[in-house]
Amino acid sequence: MNQLSVQHLLGIKHLTKADIDLIFSTADHFKEVINRPIKKVPSLRDITIANLFFENSTRTKLSFELAEKRLSADIINFSASQSSVKKGETLIDTANNILSMKVDLIVMRHPHVGACDFLSKHVNAKIINAGDGTHEHPTQALLDSYSIREKLGSVKGKKVIILGDILHSRVALSNIYALKLQGAEVKVCGPKTLIPKYIESLGVGVETNIKKALEWCDVANVLRVQNERMATNYFPSTREYTKLFGINKKMLDSLDKEIVIMHPGPINRGVELTSDVADNSQSIILNQVENGVAIRMAVIYLLAQQIERK
Ligand code: CP
Repeated sequence: MNQLSVQHLLGIKHLTKADIDLIFSTADHFKEVINRPIKKVPSLRDITIANLFFENSTRTKLSFELAEKRLSADIINFSASQSSVKKGETLIDTANNILSMKVDLIVMRHPHVGACDFLSKHVNAKIINAGDGTHEHPTQALLDSYSIREKLGSVKGKKVIILGDILHSRVALSNIYALKLQGAEVKVCGPKTLIPKYIESLGVGVETNIKKALEWCDVANVLRVQNERMATNYFPSTREYTKLFGINKKMLDSLDKEIVIMHPGPINRGVELTSDVADNSQSIILNQVENGVAIRMAVIYLLAQQIERK
């Protein structure tokens, strides 16, 4: 198979295992390209991409932009805080105005769940979800699984703990879909108040004791507490959260195996991870960021193959 089964990348939920295999094999090729002295290919010289960011981002925005440049696409960047959205323009009007400038593909981050799905039904362009509210962040999950595969040889059969604020995390949901599709065992760990009640229906275990969680897993994917998405308090204090769910070096050293530490960023150092864990040789946090460019090149390249060239 050399074509994705989907027309847009709205979420991992819509992908097949074959889609993920195709994205990974394409990313392997692009990873080799971006490690060459000349890090560009001319593949998408005839494609124009708009990056629409209605929410803050460092890694995802820069990674998509670099991926697009490495593929030689033309790009335009849109940040909601500096746009006419502030004057009341709707999402569809904003997107259609941008598309009338002959844009082929939109990468969008938006605070509302389902915004990318909505856009895909109302505008004539390929849509890539760069994070929609608490719902999905598919390219993050793809780069996370790709990084596990690179570090441990495969994802199948690996035991992965997703630790922290699962309730507000789009990274958690996309990772659960991606990991389960590839045959990993997945558990979540965190305060009960930050674990959604439906989680076990996704085939995911729950562990509320961090020591047991770390003893069980091969990989710990650690998430930030997303205070910006909380309207109420879910635990008594940050200090107590860190005491019960933070990872420090002493805990890692007490395990009888070397587990892999991951984090999608941004890290709150000293809260969910101490610096000597984040910067430890067991951490692949910066490898995740590096792999993000190759994964995003692969996704953009594969979706662009479906665009009719006039
Ligand atoms: N991992 C991630 O989505 O980071 P940003 O919010 O900085 O893009």
